[in-house]
Amino acid sequence: MLGEKGMPTDMQNGATSRRLFEPIKLGRFELPHRITMAPLTRSRARQPGNVPSPMNACYYQQRASAALIVAEATQVSMQGQGYAWTPGIHSRDQIEGWRLVTEAVHNAGGQIFLQLWHVGRISHPKLQPDGMFPVAPSAIKPAGQAFIENETGEGEMVPFVTPRALETEEVPLVVSQYVRGAINALEAGFEGVEIHGANGYLIDQFISSKTNHRTDRYGWPVENRARFLTEVLEGVLEVWGPDRVGVRLSPLGSFNDISDDQPETTFGHIAEILSGYQLAYLHLVNPAIPAVESKKDPEPPASRMLDLMREKYRGTLMIAGGFDQDTAEDWLAKGRADVIAFGRKFLANPDLPERFRVYAHLNRDDPSTYYGGGEKGYIDYLTLAQERGEKPKPAFDERWR
Ligand SMILES: Cc1cc2nc3c(=O)[nH]c(=O)nc-3n(C[C@H](O)[C@H](O)[C@H](O)COP(=O)(O)O)c2cc1C
Repeated sequence: MLGEKGMPTDMQNGATSRRLFEPIKLGRFELPHRITMAPLTRSRARQPGNVPSPMNACYYQQRASAALIVAEATQVSMQGQGYAWTPGIHSRDQIEGWRLVTEAVHNAGGQIFLQLWHVGRISHPKLQPDGMFPVAPSAIKPAGQAFIENETGEGEMVPFVTPRALETEEVPLVVSQYVRGAINALEAGFEGVEIHGANGYLIDQFISSKTNHRTDRYGWPVENRARFLTEVLEGVLEVWGPDRVGVRLSPLGSFNDISDDQPETTFGHIAEILSGYQLAYLHLVNPAIPAVESKKDPEPPASRMLDLMREKYRGTLMIAGGFDQDTAEDWLAKGRADVIAFGRKFLANPDLPERFRVYAHLNRDDPSTYYGGGEKGYIDYLTLAQERGEKPKPAFDERWR
């Protein structure tokens, strides 16, 4: 099939390569192509208990043609939750729920990692066990609002609170929450795990100067601010081994009121450390999303950061953020990344690799259905075969509620 302008989209800008469809080794996995699904919070776990449901299994199964699915951020403990209705990996029911998901993906020939998540200060007493205060490296309130469930069962935004700073002795207990999550993920049948070190959540809060004002072994200088990440990583590696573990970072990111005074020093150091572990991959949230979306070259700070990450991290690099087929091909051709993860495009196109393969049109994602709700905007996006009437459309099943 041809692209929207009537010719293969990569011919329109003169590019002819199809690197997206070259196989690549990622850790112990042979990926048939380089199109992965980025982790996407959808706040649709079954209640009570934040348990993955058959509807969630259907959603992931529909997207099993990704070279690798990185499942949505999943709290490793009740304390690690920061949004209403996100799934966990700390209870027996959740392990069983995730098993439905992994089996569904495997039955469709896919492979899936779980993203291990602790939100730190990006939470609210309403989401915490016994209404406690969220914890963080330092007692610094983030600007912005938390997404909670209100008395009538609806989602509601409420202002963040000032978190409680973790005592030094407590930090290893939080590390052990990630390790428990990693053990549970193994039991739930995942291929591996991705440690969520990005987007202003707990690990990023330890890394970044704006959120970490500690003076103990977990704060200042950068060697200490990286310690929480490396302790989590080493604990998780004991469970999984390096070739089934990825780490996600977001250098230069500002989401969740985060920033760092010396990002090149900080993230250069961290990339260098991570390089020593022979991980399956490092996953970056693209620091140049607006530029990529407008088909421009990254601005100098983002460009320098991307080069730095490439230089310091000697392993498979996955990048997500703002890509379409052409820009993904371009970045692979320029050697900026080895694998491209797609978020919003995968959300709306369950058969995204096939659509890219035949240069088909794409469905548009609907932000009003990102978080919470049921099948609408979740499992009802059609594949090409369904559009053509060659396959039945997804059917809604009341029992999934
Ligand atoms: C609805 C939605 C949910 C997201 N949830 C997560 C998440 O759970 N974990 C994470 O690391 N990033 C999350 N992200 C960021 C995406 O993984 C990705 O980096 C971002 O969407 C940019 O890629 P894209 O332009 O291909 O969508 C989310 C983004 C969106 C739009």
